[in-house]
Amino acid sequence: MQLSDEQKQVGKENFNEAVGTVRDEKMTDLERQGFTRRSFIKGAAAAVPSLGAVYFGYEKLKGDPVRTAFIGTGDEGSILITQHPPDYMNIVAIADLRPSNRERAFHGDGNEHRVGLIKKLGAEPASKIQRFDNHKDLIAAKEELGLEAVVIAVPLNQHMPLAIECMQAGLHVLSEKLMAHNIDECKQIIREQKKAGVLYAVGHQRHYSVLYDNANELVKQGLLGDIKFIRAQWHRNNSWPGRDSWRKPIPKEDMEALKGKTKEWGYEDVEQMCHWRLFDKTGGGLMAELGSHQLDASSIFLGKVHPIAVQGYGGRNFYGTNGVGSKDKQEDHREVDDHVYVTFEFPGPHHPKSGKFPESETDENDIVIVTYSSINTNGLEPYGETVFGSRGTLMVHLEQEALLFKENQPGGKPGGLDQRLYVIKGKGGDVVMDTTESLAPATQAAVAGDTMQKISRGYTEEMEHFCHCIRTENFNGPNDGGLRCNGEVAMADAIMALTSNLAMKYHRRIEFKDEWFDPDSDATPETDPEIVGDIA
Ligand SMILES: NC(=O)c1ccc[n+]([C@@H]2O[C@H](COP(=O)([O-])OP(=O)(O)OC[C@H]3O[C@@H](n4cnc5c(N)ncnc54)[C@H](O)[C@@H]3O)[C@@H](O)[C@H]2O)c1
Repeated sequence: MQLSDEQKQVGKENFNEAVGTVRDEKMTDLERQGFTRRSFIKGAAAAVPSLGAVYFGYEKLKGDPVRTAFIGTGDEGSILITQHPPDYMNIVAIADLRPSNRERAFHGDGNEHRVGLIKKLGAEPASKIQRFDNHKDLIAAKEELGLEAVVIAVPLNQHMPLAIECMQAGLHVLSEKLMAHNIDECKQIIREQKKAGVLYAVGHQRHYSVLYDNANELVKQGLLGDIKFIRAQWHRNNSWPGRDSWRKPIPKEDMEALKGKTKEWGYEDVEQMCHWRLFDKTGGGLMAELGSHQLDASSIFLGKVHPIAVQGYGGRNFYGTNGVGSKDKQEDHREVDDHVYVTFEFPGPHHPKSGKFPESETDENDIVIVTYSSINTNGLEPYGETVFGSRGTLMVHLEQEALLFKENQPGGKPGGLDQRLYVIKGKGGDVVMDTTESLAPATQAAVAGDTMQKISRGYTEEMEHFCHCIRTENFNGPNDGGLRCNGEVAMADAIMALTSNLAMKYHRRIEFKDEWFDPDSDATPETDPEIVGDIA
């Protein structure tokens, strides 16, 4: 939805006002520890180094920073290097197959999100970090490196084999999303993690985003009323030649170094290795790469319940190789869809599947619909989620800003996009939105009007917490102070993304089965005879 700058400002101020009121208790606790209301609301981890530690309740690290290696220093690995918290994590080595990306790990690429180790840590400390041409040589050197943990940011088809090799070597693993290429691989990872007695976490960073946590708190407190619909999207316009970030030009040095040598690492050739997102063998398409983030966010807002069913349409509607089609169409032999549209049914709080109320208070019709689209031919609405409730609407844009609007109310209490609001506590301690006559920014809002670029997307906090759990030997799950996105949580995200791929592929509505989410069961959507019949 397109909003004017004024409406955006009103929405942001409404959000901050609501967070300030709803979280007063937590705020006081934080203020006691020296955090300002402003840093709390904005999640400004850059300005306040250990905001996450205070906010999410983990301590400053006890003991030495965890000796960590990065495997895969491409686009995402380089972002994580830039965001890594040196007080918690001591990077002792990096490994990458591509010479250009080994170089980028140290020198960055001119992008402020990928500054490189030298700028991040200083030339002298960075010079002590060892570099390896592949993960096997790195693992072989684990003793001399004193290695304790790895961060894995490689193509999807290598998540499972690398995680398992590292865990079998006794290393804790923080892997990038999606957890794995299929659900059988996810289950193998969880089983191996238990056997190896190490920690395994997945980098779905919204679990560590203060912004999302604040937004979710408003949802949990019931401020939006009844939620029946969430609309999420990630739209881009890659229709101009050379704009597609999924098939960037391959540097000559990588081509020369790796030609004929990629098969042993799981890639047919250098192109498949570098453009791995385009191919079924190496990637999982738009749902794995982009949709998994939005479905993760939507399911956080719905209390992390498992979905009931999914259906959708996906197609290669833009790119192709047959030389005909729209005038902007580009030649491209990708296997994955370039446009996807899916609809999920989730249980609402009173649905029997949510398990929140006794049977007598359940209602099969309490369904929340989540729609998701990802397209390549229009970028007017980039990415985010909109939660539509009976009392209000919450929008989260680009992991950077959240807006809140109140519904129009009968009896002269206006709502809508231009309406400032304040939040009051009702008789039973519940919170409701009301409108204010004054056009002056409300108390909380007045402190949150400066630049947004300092908002942490959660990467730093995710790495801090991973190291904290290692040092405290905390193997608990997310409900007991443990990793907020452990194997089970991440597998549920993978099941949503990969089952929606099956729904699009087989053109059918698929109902999710409890056993898919059970790591001890061998059942998976990809091998379910009701979905794939005798194809599997
Ligand atoms: N959390 C997020 O928001 C987010 C954003 C982007 C990407 N990702 C994820 O990060 C992962 C990496 O994505 P990317 O964009 O950085 O890809 P990329 O292609 O830019 O980088 C991957 C790197 O892994 C290296 N690699 C592959 N196999 C290796 C091996 N055996 N040993 C050492 N290095 C190896 C490649 O040489 C390459 O440099 C993917 O799983 C992706 O989904 C997450």
